[in-house]
Amino acid sequence: MERTQVGIVGAGPAGLLLAHLLHRAGIDSLVLESRSRAEVEGTVRAGVLEQGTVDLLRETGVGSRLDREAFFHRGVYLRFAGRTHHIDMQALTGGKRVTLYAQQEVVKDLVDARARAGREIAFEASNVAIHDVASGRPSLSFTHAGRERRLACDFVAGCDGTHGVSRHSLPEGALTRHERTYPFAWFGFLVEAAPSADELIYARHDRGFALVSMRTRTLQRMYFQCDPSEEPDAWSEERIWAEMRARLETSDGWKPVEGRITQKVVVPMRSLVFEPMQLGNLFLAGDAAHVVPPTGAKGLNLAAADVRVLARAMQRFYADGDRGGLDAYSSKCLERVWKAQRFSYWLTTLLHRSESDTSFDRNRQLAELDYLVHSRAAMTSFAENYVGLPFDE
Ligand code: FAD
Ligand code: DHB
Repeated sequence: MERTQVGIVGAGPAGLLLAHLLHRAGIDSLVLESRSRAEVEGTVRAGVLEQGTVDLLRETGVGSRLDREAFFHRGVYLRFAGRTHHIDMQALTGGKRVTLYAQQEVVKDLVDARARAGREIAFEASNVAIHDVASGRPSLSFTHAGRERRLACDFVAGCDGTHGVSRHSLPEGALTRHERTYPFAWFGFLVEAAPSADELIYARHDRGFALVSMRTRTLQRMYFQCDPSEEPDAWSEERIWAEMRARLETSDGWKPVEGRITQKVVVPMRSLVFEPMQLGNLFLAGDAAHVVPPTGAKGLNLAAADVRVLARAMQRFYADGDRGGLDAYSSKCLERVWKAQRFSYWLTTLLHRSESDTSFDRNRQLAELDYLVHSRAAMTSFAENYVGLPFDE
């Protein structure tokens, strides 16, 4: 039997950042990941980081490439009824900015930090199982590089995303599930071309939502609302561009910068919270505990906020045996999670169209958007949620 202080399941942003924060606090951990390093580092997902996430990465020594390569935006554009409106979030929030830095770049930086620390990430681990979850002495078993391993831990952190094993290791009935599904999905793709605009464009159109984002000076990220059953390959480049042009049209003839399309995916949308986020010495963090629809760009940021709370609670425990922070972990995280759920739901329903919408819903959406871009109070509320609510210390 091997031993570590914290066994971490999953090397996504939650697991890797937790391992990094714990290492800096002198706490030992081992990270188990079912996929290969190349797959983990190559998965295209989030792009927008909250100011607090960026600050955390910088303060803990993993922000230097981000500082060189990320885009820092003052705000975002909202487009509806053929017109574009800028929301200057930096001015509305006292200086907080919107950072564009791809999730897989954050992941690469954290994998590098782990290697520099000389600590292990067991990639391509299979048959991962958590034992004695509810007890004070949990352990992990897994197969790695052809060898059966068993790991005794003080704590297990379940950072293994929506489809991981951690949550399913809990006894039936231990968690309450709060869920909302949406009758639409996102079609996401990369475009080999320079950014179409200097900041992100969130567009509401009668044909459905569209989003123009970016990755680098030569790569754009775009999304449009689609049916959840849509097959990516049913969409040719020409069909995609015709749809994007229609949804992004403005009265002054604006057009997206087109280019070769790669990496087409259909992303389902739902809101999901499991409560509580802990049992015994097992703690769930990130997508393993909650999922938001991507519209508010909150998922990765919530994962970072969870592990920030968890690392501090563990640090307090190892410093003076005080379990107070650990016992309060779930309730502390859920305060932020529910506010992010509220915001993501609000922005999703404000910008998407649903088959069941009537002319009432359409006019209500347009009135709310018009109010939003003309009321300083409404814009401030949107901005402070988008750049990230402050951490309650
Ligand atoms: P994951 O990233 O899912 O990582 C979990 C890891 O656990 C994976 O590497 C997985 O392979 C591993 N694993 C699973 N099962 C096991 C097992 N049995 N054993 C070992 N390892 C296992 N969020 C934002 O904040 N901003 C955005 O702009 C944004 N945009 C998004 C756009 C899209 C299209 C999508 C799909 C998501 C977006 N998100 C965004 C959400 C964000 O990507 C997720 O919330 C984030 O990946 C959660 O991180 P995580 O570490 O909790 O989970
Ligand atoms: C991106 C993803 C989002 O969910 C979002 O709201 C904005 C941008 C992106 O991948 O760039």
